[in-house]
Amino acid sequence: MSKKSGISLQSYSPYSGIEEYCFIEGTSGTAYPGVRIENISFPLTIPAIQAAVCSCLANGDQPAILYQQKPESELLSYWVDQYSLAVKQEIPAFQNLYDPLLTSVADVAALLKKLAEKAIVPHSGFEVAALLETPAGFICGVNVEVSAWSLGLCAERVAISRAVAAGYTEFTSLHIYAPKGDFSSPCGACRQILTEWLPDKIVKLHHGDGSLSTHYTSHLLPYGFTSNSLKK
Ligand code: THU
Repeated sequence: MSKKSGISLQSYSPYSGIEEYCFIEGTSGTAYPGVRIENISFPLTIPAIQAAVCSCLANGDQPAILYQQKPESELLSYWVDQYSLAVKQEIPAFQNLYDPLLTSVADVAALLKKLAEKAIVPHSGFEVAALLETPAGFICGVNVEVSAWSLGLCAERVAISRAVAAGYTEFTSLHIYAPKGDFSSPCGACRQILTEWLPDKIVKLHHGDGSLSTHYTSHLLPYGFTSNSLKK
């Protein structure tokens, strides 16, 4: 697949086979890639545009231009209207592509604290930061709330969708921090997504009092939803 973008965008679409990707260019001039990320629980699927807009907002940027060839993302009109996006079908060679990889992280807890301040939380004021560990380095995410509550993304999902869009699909662990959470803990929907992306991997929960607890994803979601008839 050649897409004058500098990266090879690969959807995670094992259930439908639908290849879907896009770029959101922010007012800063940075381009944020997004790919479709399906889940075995279909309603938890992240359309490419949701991934790209949330990545842009989580970086403190404002979405300005959508670049997407066919097929169009689900709920496209919500995002286009909400952010008055200009829509272009020709994908250029972006000079400034968002690179989510952090290669020299000395202090994970300190970075999580700094990251949490970047959460976009106009509705809840409840910041969450996530750091996804890959063999190449860390990928960060914060939670993003938009006007439609159900279309925002948790910090964990921002990190995973940024990673997949940038071509990182192997994850070794995930760190989560919610300063106002007392006991930081991923929501049920994120647990379902973690089960798909980090099966039997470690989730480190950094709690409000500075303590840390370590869990296997399989322990966080016992008897989680799965079905061989849905697996491709
Ligand atoms: N949130 C996360 O970012 N991760 C979770 O696992 C739990 C919930 C966010 C979503 C929303 O922005 C805020 O916390 C309140 O639900």
